[in-house]
Amino acid sequence: MRTPFHAGLLGLALLAAATLPAQATALKTLNGQAPLVVAHRGASGYLPEHTLAGYELAIKMGADYIEPDLQLTKDGHLVAMHDTTLNRTTDVATVLGRRNNGYRVADYTLAEIKQLTVKPTGTGKTSYPGFTPSSADALRVPTFAEVIQLAQSQSALTGRTVGLYPEAKIADPLMEDKILATLAQHGYGKSSDAVFIQSFSLDTMKNIRAKQQSLGMSLQQVFLGNSASSSFADIAQYVNGIGPSINASGANAVTESYIQAAHAAGLLVHGYTFAQANAGLAAAQYDKYFGWGMDGVFSNYTDLAVSARNELMAAVPEPSSYALMLSGIGLLGWVARRRRHTA
Ligand code: G3P
Ligand code: CA
Repeated sequence: MRTPFHAGLLGLALLAAATLPAQATALKTLNGQAPLVVAHRGASGYLPEHTLAGYELAIKMGADYIEPDLQLTKDGHLVAMHDTTLNRTTDVATVLGRRNNGYRVADYTLAEIKQLTVKPTGTGKTSYPGFTPSSADALRVPTFAEVIQLAQSQSALTGRTVGLYPEAKIADPLMEDKILATLAQHGYGKSSDAVFIQSFSLDTMKNIRAKQQSLGMSLQQVFLGNSASSSFADIAQYVNGIGPSINASGANAVTESYIQAAHAAGLLVHGYTFAQANAGLAAAQYDKYFGWGMDGVFSNYTDLAVSARNELMAAVPEPSSYALMLSGIGLLGWVARRRRHTA
C-alpha cells in the first residue's frame, strides 16, 4: 500500500532526477571527453593569422590548442605561416621585394622575414577591443619555438595547459626532423602531452611516426583530409585521428555515421574549418557536430567555439551526478526496507 512516506520517497527520487539538466545526454566523443577547441591559425577571425597576438587572444578566449602551420625559411628555421609564399599575409612586397620571381618563404632568411609585419586577412583587424598583446613583436612572423614558448608561458599564467597543434605544411624530411627536435627541446615527447602533429600527407605522418619511435617519442598525430571510411583502419596504424573538412560533400562528407566509423577504427575526428562569424549560426553548427560526437574543432572564432562547447558540457551530466542520484535512490530504498522490517 502506498503511504505518505512512500509518496515522499518517490518525490525525492523524482526531485533528484530533475536536478539533472533537462536535455542531459552522454557525450559521443571517442573518449567521452569534452570536444577540443583548436584556434585555427590563432584567433584568425579577429587578428592577423599566425601571429603571437592572434595566438594569445585565442588563449584568452579559452582555446585548448593553438595551431601553427609551419614553413621552412631559407636558412632552415621553422616559422608559423600557412602559405608557401609571404605576400598574402605580410608586407614583403614593399619591405623586401621579390626573390626568384616570387615571394617563397624558402627564398628568405629568418632575419629577413623578421622585418615583416603580418597583415589582417578576411574578417581580421590589426587590433581587438580590450586586448593588448604581451609581446612587443606581436604582429611579426613567429618562429615555431616562439609559439611554443607563448603556449608554455600562457599555461603558467592561466593555470591550464595550452596545447600545440603544429602542421607540417610541406612534405620535407628536414621539416619533420625540425618539428620533432623543436618539440623535444621544449619538453614534449609523451602521448599524454598536449600536442597533435598534423599533415595532409600520409607519407609525412608515416615518416614522423617512425622518427618518433626511433627517438623514443610518442606524440599524437592527425592525418588531414576526408579519407574514405574504408581506409580508416589503415590510417589508424599511423595516426591517432583524422582532420576532415566539414565542407566536403558526397561519400566522404562529415556525417554522424562518418564520425562513428572513424571512432570504430579508434580515430579521433577534428573537423576544419569552423569559420562562421555569426554567433547564432555558429552555435547551431557547433551543436550539430558536437551532437554527432566530433572530438575537436578548428575554429577561426575561438570564443564562439568555446561558448558552444561550454553549453554542451553544461547539458551533459557529470558521472558524479549519476552516482549521487543512484546512491540517493539506493539510500531511500534502504530506509524504506528498514521501516517495513521494523513496522
Ligand atoms: O590543419 C587543419 C586546417 O587548418 C587545414 O586547413 O589550409 O587552414 O591549414 P589550412
Ligand atoms: Ca592548418
